[in-house]
Amino acid sequence: MTLQEKIADLRTSALEKLPKIADEKTLNDFRVSVLGKKGELTDILKGMKDLSNEERPKLGALANEFRDEITSLLESKKSEIEATIIAKKLENETLDVTLPGKKVAKGNRHILTQTTEEIEDIFLGMGYQIVDGYEVETDYYNFERMNLPKDHPARDMQDTFYITSDILLRTHTSPVQARTMDAHDFTKGPLKMISPGRVYRRDTDDATHSHQFHQIEGLVIDENIAMSDLKGTLDTLVKKMFGAERKIRLRPSYFPFTEPSVEADISCFKCGGKGCNVCKMTGWIEVLGAGMVHPNVLEMAGIDSTKYSGFAFGLGQERIAMLRYGINDIRGFYLGDARMSEQFK
Ligand code: PHE
Repeated sequence: MTLQEKIADLRTSALEKLPKIADEKTLNDFRVSVLGKKGELTDILKGMKDLSNEERPKLGALANEFRDEITSLLESKKSEIEATIIAKKLENETLDVTLPGKKVAKGNRHILTQTTEEIEDIFLGMGYQIVDGYEVETDYYNFERMNLPKDHPARDMQDTFYITSDILLRTHTSPVQARTMDAHDFTKGPLKMISPGRVYRRDTDDATHSHQFHQIEGLVIDENIAMSDLKGTLDTLVKKMFGAERKIRLRPSYFPFTEPSVEADISCFKCGGKGCNVCKMTGWIEVLGAGMVHPNVLEMAGIDSTKYSGFAFGLGQERIAMLRYGINDIRGFYLGDARMSEQFK
């Protein structure tokens, strides 16, 4: 057999096998066995060395033609196989658009966050700035600057977690008062701020106590600030939070950093003051502590207490939310159970 004939034979058998191939692996094996370095064509061309100078280029041309033909057939076969694979996939993976879709559960903001933001909005509307404080505080700001020197008996009400004897987890948001007074430039105008945040106390957790909870501190300092300003401010707050018919009542109380100090009650939003289970038959609900800033607190910040005066208040978001929504266990706020938050979408 001449080399020409051998190529012709190889072509015949190749053209016969190729159409039957149905997968990529067989196709690749076929290409290697016919055109590969150790394939049949290479094998045939080994005989070229015995050809005359005249015949050699002719055979070369024939071999190239054969290689080109098979290469292009391989290409089209390859696309054909790929197309069938895709067609099969499409057939198996048809989408039933009439099936109901899977719902993606959407989260929502925690009720304490919502309560905080609602109160922030009320005070932003009255021109207050919102200030951030530190949860890890110094004894100096948490107690001393709040007129609670070391060994002051009122410290007992606010025992907390100590990091060192001078660094602790703050027991209230009041230290932000002192930090803000220190930073405020009174030549530029009055100080009006609120500061929301987390506070800590050494407490045994139960339905109404938690070793961590949230507060919003409020502070206003200017010339001629009077108790009536405090009352008016709190009145605006509770009417916006609990309804326009709510009344406010101030009862004498004690905080070392305010003088006089008060406990603020609102008329019961459930019974309107007649007496019910929410207000424990008193018609009033206690919502926050407040008072006129103690002169010592002003003086420690370098503020002339004969020229300036102020009021401060502190309220707890948990308490507000529990009252408003009838939540009876404070621990529910912290468990991270999505069912709790879902109720407040
Ligand atoms: N810091 C007080 C507390 O945590 C609340 C308060 C703030 C009272 C500001 C008066 C003025 O109990």
